[in-house]
Amino acid sequence: MSALATALREKIASRRARAGVVGLGYVGLPLAVEFARSGFRTTGIDLDDRKVAAIMDGRSYIPDVPTEDVAKLRQANRLDATTDFAAVAELDTINICVPTPLRKSKDPDMSYIVSAVESIARHLRPGVLVCLESTTYPGTTDEVVQPLLEATGLKAGKDFFLAFSPERVDPGNPTFQTHNVPKVVGGTTATCAELAAGLYGAAIETIVPVSSTRVAEMVKLLENTFRAVNIGLVNELALMCDRMNIDVWEVVEAARTKPFGFMAFYPGPGLGGHCIPIDPFYLSWKAKQSGFDPRFIELAGHINGSMPHYVLEKVGEALNTRRKAVNGSRILIAGVAYKRDIDDMRESPALDVMGLLHGKGAQISYTDPHVPEIDARSWPGGIALESVPADAQTFGQYDCIVILTDHRAFDYAEMVSRADLIVDTRNAVKHAAPNVFRLGAPQPAPQGASVG
Ligand SMILES: NC(=O)c1ccc[n+]([C@@H]2O[C@H](COP(=O)([O-])OP(=O)(O)OC[C@H]3O[C@@H](n4cnc5c(N)ncnc54)[C@H](O)[C@@H]3O)[C@@H](O)[C@H]2O)c1
Repeated sequence: MSALATALREKIASRRARAGVVGLGYVGLPLAVEFARSGFRTTGIDLDDRKVAAIMDGRSYIPDVPTEDVAKLRQANRLDATTDFAAVAELDTINICVPTPLRKSKDPDMSYIVSAVESIARHLRPGVLVCLESTTYPGTTDEVVQPLLEATGLKAGKDFFLAFSPERVDPGNPTFQTHNVPKVVGGTTATCAELAAGLYGAAIETIVPVSSTRVAEMVKLLENTFRAVNIGLVNELALMCDRMNIDVWEVVEAARTKPFGFMAFYPGPGLGGHCIPIDPFYLSWKAKQSGFDPRFIELAGHINGSMPHYVLEKVGEALNTRRKAVNGSRILIAGVAYKRDIDDMRESPALDVMGLLHGKGAQISYTDPHVPEIDARSWPGGIALESVPADAQTFGQYDCIVILTDHRAFDYAEMVSRADLIVDTRNAVKHAAPNVFRLGAPQPAPQGASVG
C-alpha cells in the first residue's frame, strides 16, 4: 500500500478523516448522518439551498432521518452542509448520491453524475477516496467517473482512490436502515476497495467486498431487475386471475407458505419510485450497446407499464355496475405516494392512473396523509390539487374511491362502509364486499343485474 493510501486508511480508522456526501436526498442525507454519527466530521454538498439551510438549522426533511439526530449532530459540530464545492478541498472521502433518472427515450441521464464529478474534480487533491453510490449501468465508474477525475492529472488507484458501492435504502422501512443493510463495495483497484470498505465499515455493520466496480454496479441492477421482473410476473398473474375468476391475493398468500423456493411479490397499479421503474432500463440500455437483447426487462416493463390502463378499465367496470360512466364521475384517489406510508411521489403509478381517468372526463380529487398537495406540473391532468381529509364524510361524497397506495393511516372499514364503490388495487380492504372491486379478484355482482 502506498504512503497516500496508508495515510488515508489511518485517518479513516482514527475518524480524523473528513467525510463528504454530494447529493443530500433520500440516500445522501441518511448516509451523511451515519458517517457523522460514527465519528467523522461530515460535510454535505447539495445544489439545493433549501436542503443545505435545513441541515444548517438542524432540521431533517427526509422522514427516515429524525430531526433530533440532525440537530444533535449539528450541535456536536459533526455535520454541516454547503452548496459550495470548494468544501471538497477539505475532504478526505467523498460519496456521490445524485439522481440517475431516465431520459424520455428511456436512455440513462448521466448529467447529474457528470456535473457532480466535474465539480469535485475542480477541487480534487491527492489522497482522497471518491465513492459513487448512484444506481447506474455497469461501467459508469471506470468509463465516466474515472476519466473525468483523471483529467485533473491525478491517477485513480495511485493519487486518488475510486470505488462504487450501491445504495440499498428502503424508505419507510423501520427495521432496515442505512447502518444495518449490508453494503456491497467494489474498487477500481484492490487498495481502492480496501479503503472504501474501511470507510463504510466505520458506519455500516456488514460490508460485502466484490472484485470490481462493474460487479458492484451490476449487483444493484440485478436486485432491482429481480423485483421489476417478479412484480411483472405477479401483475400478469393478476390479469390472468381476473379473467379466470380466481383471487390472486389468496393465491399469493397460500403460495408464500412454502418455506423454500418461493418469494412473495404482490400485484398493484404499476411500478413507482426512483429505482424499480428506472434502473432495469439502465441495464437494458448498456446490454444493447454490447449487442445483447435483454428480453425479461422489456417484457416486465411492458406488463408493469400497462397496469394503470388496467386500473382505468377496472374503474370503468365498477362504475358500470352503477350504470355510470367514467366521464363526469367524481373519483377520489386514495394514496398517491408510490408506496405505503411514505411521501415520495416520484414515478408513482397513481399519477398515471389519475391522468388516464382525467383524460376520460373523470373529476379527480385525492387524499394522502403524506402528500398535502400535488402541483399542476406533476401529473398529466395539469391541475394543482390539495389532499382532501380521509374521513367518513369525504368517503361518502364520491362515485368511486380508487385505492392506489395502502397507507396505514386510512380507515378501510370506514371507507367500505361509507363509499358507494371502491376499486382496491392493493388488497387494502382484504376481503370481498359488495361495493369493493379488487384488482385480480372475482368481482361483485352488478347492482340490479337481471337474468333473461
Ligand atoms: N430513493 C431510494 O429509495 C434509492 C434507493 C437506492 C438507490 N437510490 C439511488 O441513489 C441515487 C440518489 O437517489 P435519491 O433518492 O437520494 O435522490 P434525491 O433526488 O432524493 O437526492 C438527490 C440530491 O442530489 C442533489 N443534486 C443533484 N445534482 C447535484 C449536483 N450536481 N451536485 C450536488 N448535488 C446535486 C439534488 O439536489 C438532491 O438533493 C439515485 O441514483 C437513485 O437511483 C435511491
